[in-house]
Amino acid sequence: MKKYNNTDFNINNVNESVELYGWASKVRNLGGLIFIDLRDRSGIIQLTINPDSSCYEIAEKVRNEYVLKVNGKICERASKNPKIKTGDIEVIVDNIEILNEAATPIFELDKDDVLEDTRLRYRYLDLRRDNLKNNLITKHKIMMCTRKFLSDNGFIEVETPILSKSTPEGARDYLVPSRVNKGSFYALPQSPQIYKQLLMIGGIEKYFQIARCFRDEDLRADRQPEFTQIDMEMSFVNEDDVIDITEKLFQKIFKEVKGIDIKLPLIRMPYNEAIDKYGSDKPDLRFNMEINNVDDIFKVTDFKVFSDTIKNNDNISCIKVDEKSEYFSRKKIDELTEFVKEFGAKGLPYVKYENNEFKGGISKFLSSEEKSNLIKKLNIKNNDILFFGSDKKDIVKTSLGALRCKLAKELDLIKKGEYKFLWVTDFPSFEWSSEENRYVSSHHPFTAPKDEDIDKLLTDKANCYSKAYDIVCNGYEAGGGSIRIHNEEVQKKMFEALELTKEDIEEKFGFFVNAFKYGTPPHGGLAIGLERLTMLLCETDNIKDVIAFPKTSSASCLMSDAPNIVDKKQLDELKIEVNL
Ligand code: AMO
Repeated sequence: MKKYNNTDFNINNVNESVELYGWASKVRNLGGLIFIDLRDRSGIIQLTINPDSSCYEIAEKVRNEYVLKVNGKICERASKNPKIKTGDIEVIVDNIEILNEAATPIFELDKDDVLEDTRLRYRYLDLRRDNLKNNLITKHKIMMCTRKFLSDNGFIEVETPILSKSTPEGARDYLVPSRVNKGSFYALPQSPQIYKQLLMIGGIEKYFQIARCFRDEDLRADRQPEFTQIDMEMSFVNEDDVIDITEKLFQKIFKEVKGIDIKLPLIRMPYNEAIDKYGSDKPDLRFNMEINNVDDIFKVTDFKVFSDTIKNNDNISCIKVDEKSEYFSRKKIDELTEFVKEFGAKGLPYVKYENNEFKGGISKFLSSEEKSNLIKKLNIKNNDILFFGSDKKDIVKTSLGALRCKLAKELDLIKKGEYKFLWVTDFPSFEWSSEENRYVSSHHPFTAPKDEDIDKLLTDKANCYSKAYDIVCNGYEAGGGSIRIHNEEVQKKMFEALELTKEDIEEKFGFFVNAFKYGTPPHGGLAIGLERLTMLLCETDNIKDVIAFPKTSSASCLMSDAPNIVDKKQLDELKIEVNL
């Protein structure tokens, strides 16, 4: 067994004999001396082979990525390398064994300009690079810290089935055909939601699991078809209890893994306020540029675009970019206009304020009263620029919210290494699905409505709010959960509100609803996206950077070629016919 890591050694170990293992990261033959950078998981140490060494001939055969065992003595280096941890020392080698040769790697491991597809195809080589390896180490530390913290706080880790039944998370399920029960399918869990609630009915009281979840949905930079949740559920709790334990867990993880202090309690912001001010239910608070409602200024206006909006009872809002009007050329504004159109906006009215007057864009349509009201309300200064949205409220807020984030990146307003957390609370219970032409759950059908909204579940769905909460950091939804319904009558009402028929309920969650009859404790919980949390701590925007073997955006694995076509025999056994 390998006893030492390369980086266990430093100047204090000079003259010690060592046996080291690893890969030849770089080989330099200077005609006389041979230098090899020996790499193991911990890092690099320099090996030096003198021409008079008995192993010199073997050393001459070593190429990049050969696997080596070496014996030698630690010596102080003549020319030190402050860039690596072992830079003060080298190993003068007296025995070297080539444990395995290696084909020339498909890409140079110390180069950054390798295409992502190539890195995914040869993921095992990519894993040898520091970046990915360090991210996996960070993820490991998060998991270890989580297990310890939750266990110390009375939670027990319980596994739940992977071959399970469709869960109500709202994405498409991955299905697994049953050979024994022909024509029947398991669904891979989108989350352990139903099981963890059943664990509460089962008296487990405080559950957690580092749980694999599977969702067949459109992939994005922060979404994978299979991912991991730090999943928790607790009995006899309210919203404050779940929020409290979760933020303490975040505090512990950030301190232990990154040495960062998070001040608690985190701020809380109702969903409606988040949408109003930031156009998002996961606002990035690392920069300002809030969205301002300015309808009141344009109640009576000659500018047709705005007066039409007011007539339709829609919304006029704007964001102000401080002291940057120069940056926004005609071309830049055209580009931003195209950008907001992706979110349904019809255009991007703007005005600049330079030399104490409004210029450009829609300034000629604004009355002097409107101008002075804008200055007063938004505290406008020279070289500011305003971008307006004037449309249905959700279009205005979403497009200005997205523009706000885009501009913060472009204008470099985000400080590196900064973390801004908040809880978004009071989510609506329902959202309108134009696809299904009915209200669907914003979260899932077991989320408890606010007590004061129970009576409105059937009559005023647009104004029902729930006991749901998301923990948000730097514009990412890092986790989310809710207090659950534990009262049978309220659950029935919720199903009715979702227009689920008795047969639907029975078929989808009959066993679950039935369990509620047998003494269900009040309970609630939350699930943290482990990859999202790791992304935040590793400061990457790409979820693939924190997963050993991720899928591409078309949900395939370039390395193994999964998913693939299977033998006809396998399909016959399952009585499945492929009909493309
Ligand atoms: P939710 O669906 O909000 O809640 O998921 C919880 C957290 O999981 C992460 N997440 C994902 N991460 C990567 N790829 C994905 N495709 C993906 N989907 C979700 C997010 C999210 O906040 N059962 C409930 C939790 C509960 O109510 O207790 C649930 O799964 O960080």
